Amino acid sequence: MSAAAPVDAAAFRRWMGRWPTGVSIVTSREGERDYGLTVNAFLSVSLVPPTILVSLGHEADSLAVVARTGRFAVNLLAAEQRGLSERFSKTISAEEKFRGVPVHRGPAGLAFLDGALAAIEASVTKAVEVGDHTLFVGRVDRLEFGSERTPLLFHRGQYAEPEGSELLRLPRPKA
Ligand SMILES: Cc1cc2nc3c(=O)[nH]c(=O)nc-3n(C[C@H](O)[C@H](O)[C@H](O)COP(=O)(O)O)c2cc1C
Repeated sequence: MSAAAPVDAAAFRRWMGRWPTGVSIVTSREGERDYGLTVNAFLSVSLVPPTILVSLGHEADSLAVVARTGRFAVNLLAAEQRGLSERFSKTISAEEKFRGVPVHRGPAGLAFLDGALAAIEASVTKAVEVGDHTLFVGRVDRLEFGSERTPLLFHRGQYAEPEGSELLRLPRPKA
């Protein structure tokens, strides 16, 4: 293929699938209601000051909430939280997503999911619209270290199993 040929979105998605990632659930809160979605477009941007970035699709219900409130939390998922990742990637109501999910609260009141590997609360310092997503850059306000379990991983459009899938072998951490 020539470098100038237009790149098809489906091919691009498949290509990005070769990049293994962790899986997070990004939460936000407005009034008394929690919002959240599954996100793997997450990265650290700066150490000084500690800064992170998440990329949210324009279809995502949480996007407007993050934009209005200027806050979001990122929960890094353990392998056994795969069910939560599946639930939070469905287009269902915020209420349904959080039904029966044990959470505790960060200092700004955002939902930290019990059993996650780690969580961060951040304040938006910049929002940049790019194509069909908005990049939210956030100053890290609070870190929490959680359980030391095997991480949930995503690769080629599939979750990696704790025992290691054929695509991606993943050792268990030493007890
Ligand atoms: C492993 C995985 C990673 C995802 N990463 C992102 C992401 O980085 N940004 C995003 O906007 N959506 C991402 N999604 C899709 C959203 O979770 C999905 O569109 C969800 O329905 C959005 O919630 P909402 O419809 O309630 O707004 C991901 C889904 C999966 C399964």
